[in-house]
Amino acid sequence: MSPPVNVHSLRTRKRRDGAEPIVMVTAYDHPGATIASAAGVDIILIGDSVANTVLGYQDTLQVSVDDMVHHVAAVARARPDCLVVGDMPWMSYHLDPADAVRNAARLVRAGAQCVKLEGGRRRVPVIEAIVNAEIPVMGHIGLTPQSVHAMGGMRVQGRQLDAASELLADARAIEAAGCFAVVVEGVPDALGRAVTAALSVPTIGIGAGPDCDGQVLVFHDVLGLGTGRAPKFVRRYANLAEDAVKALAAFAADVRSGAFPSVAESYEASEQLRAALDPGRRAEKSPGALE
Ligand code: KIV
Repeated sequence: MSPPVNVHSLRTRKRRDGAEPIVMVTAYDHPGATIASAAGVDIILIGDSVANTVLGYQDTLQVSVDDMVHHVAAVARARPDCLVVGDMPWMSYHLDPADAVRNAARLVRAGAQCVKLEGGRRRVPVIEAIVNAEIPVMGHIGLTPQSVHAMGGMRVQGRQLDAASELLADARAIEAAGCFAVVVEGVPDALGRAVTAALSVPTIGIGAGPDCDGQVLVFHDVLGLGTGRAPKFVRRYANLAEDAVKALAAFAADVRSGAFPSVAESYEASEQLRAALDPGRRAEKSPGALE
């Protein structure tokens, strides 16, 4: 097993140099973080995907810095044995660098060790400002869900050569601005490979093919906790939603039939209390007890 990940050790973790692939998963709360940590992941991302997976929104544009602080703090309280990355929500880093630094600092004070933000060259000033405030930044390029409207929907990016070249330029620019790792989402496998080859910091892919330096998936997708149709790049390792429905239906049936709770699942009263509370027994056993 690799030693625990921190930003310093991660910055140079490239598969081409023989490093083990990086494992990242999202988590949004204390039990999720405890499970991910026990599974030995390298990085937990408190993603703004909390919007879709937990809060029931259609897109990630609905979550605020306050929402993210709440979820980062819940994850941090689990003291996971891995790197904790807080996702900067839409509009928390788009106005000006000072505002972005303040918002990044709120995530750090809630327990994140670094932050992630979406976008390429136009994010360079913001990335530099946050890095200058001693907060490490993970980049995120390709299919960036916060740009859903600008992209005209959640579509694979960089399919044409000119778009692929733009994306490579974005990757190089955000690395130069100080990102210690870059998430590459929703691009053809050859582009995931090209970005990984072009950068000296690691890439972490999601729908970017097998050649990135690591892979990330959403907690609810890996565990089959989601309700909607999962994207093509998701591999489900469990069907917890189905199991949960079965378990809750069994609980409901037991309550309705009287099979739950049993004597073993109840707190036994002392004979004295029983006699005092039960009029029938009181007449028999303790004439002077409570009415
Ligand atoms: O919010 C999120 O879950 C993410 C991952 C998909 C990388 O940004």
